[in-house]
Amino acid sequence: MDSNIIIPKHIGIIMDGNGRWAKKRMLPRNMGHKKGAEVFQDITRYCNELGLESVTFYAFSTENWKRPVEEVNGIMTLLKEYLVKAFDYEKENNRIVFLGDKSAFTGELLELMLDIEEKTKDRTGMTLNIALNYGARNEIVKATKDIAQLVKDGKMNVEDITEETFSDYLYTKGQPDPDFILRPSGEKRISNFLLWQIAYSEFVYMDVLWPDFTRKDLDEAIIEFNKRNRRFGGV
Ligand code: IPE
Ligand code: IPE
Ligand code: MG
Repeated sequence: MDSNIIIPKHIGIIMDGNGRWAKKRMLPRNMGHKKGAEVFQDITRYCNELGLESVTFYAFSTENWKRPVEEVNGIMTLLKEYLVKAFDYEKENNRIVFLGDKSAFTGELLELMLDIEEKTKDRTGMTLNIALNYGARNEIVKATKDIAQLVKDGKMNVEDITEETFSDYLYTKGQPDPDFILRPSGEKRISNFLLWQIAYSEFVYMDVLWPDFTRKDLDEAIIEFNKRNRRFGGV
């Protein structure tokens, strides 16, 4: 990429369009998820190569449980497979964090998630956030409850609740807000992703379906981001 291009610190990616990709090919939806998981792995590596500080992938929302049970099971099986693969590239030095309510997970998948977080927590490279059973409203309610409990127990004063302290009770604690949110598949909506953290994020929507998404598409999105003039309320 052109050396004048500024690489963002943190990109949020809504991986969408797997189902439509499969449908176009008369394949079952889970084949779209499989191809999508391969793209996820490659784009993660590319984000590392570009030198991002963090990247957040939206992999499964709190609303996605509404899908047919065989699709949900297929996604969970793929997750196990790709998390192990992702974890195999130990040399890449990623810190892996799962954003979302883990209480929905049990057994092998939950153990794997906890193990990956524990083993990677002190790493110094890019933070790879994977949003799993993630919903931004759920996250904000959870933070509110945690804070309310602390106040009730006399461990926190109401005056100490600020934008900064509130952020400490979100799954993204200690992390920079995303510079931009990228959504492929042609949909132009946020679907309950990072509502608090995107206050000043730029949005880049692309028509490509996630399983067709390439490194070149990410380059294009970053170039588009570079054309934006972020003002954060100033002049
Ligand atoms: C994104 O692709 C994957 C998940 C939400 C788990 P979709 O499965 O939503 O694909 P479309 O939107 O139906 O094409
Ligand atoms: C958002 O995609 C969630 C993920 C990509 C994990 P959806 O496909 O679930 O969103 P909607 O239903 O089109 O808004
Ligand atoms: Mg979708």
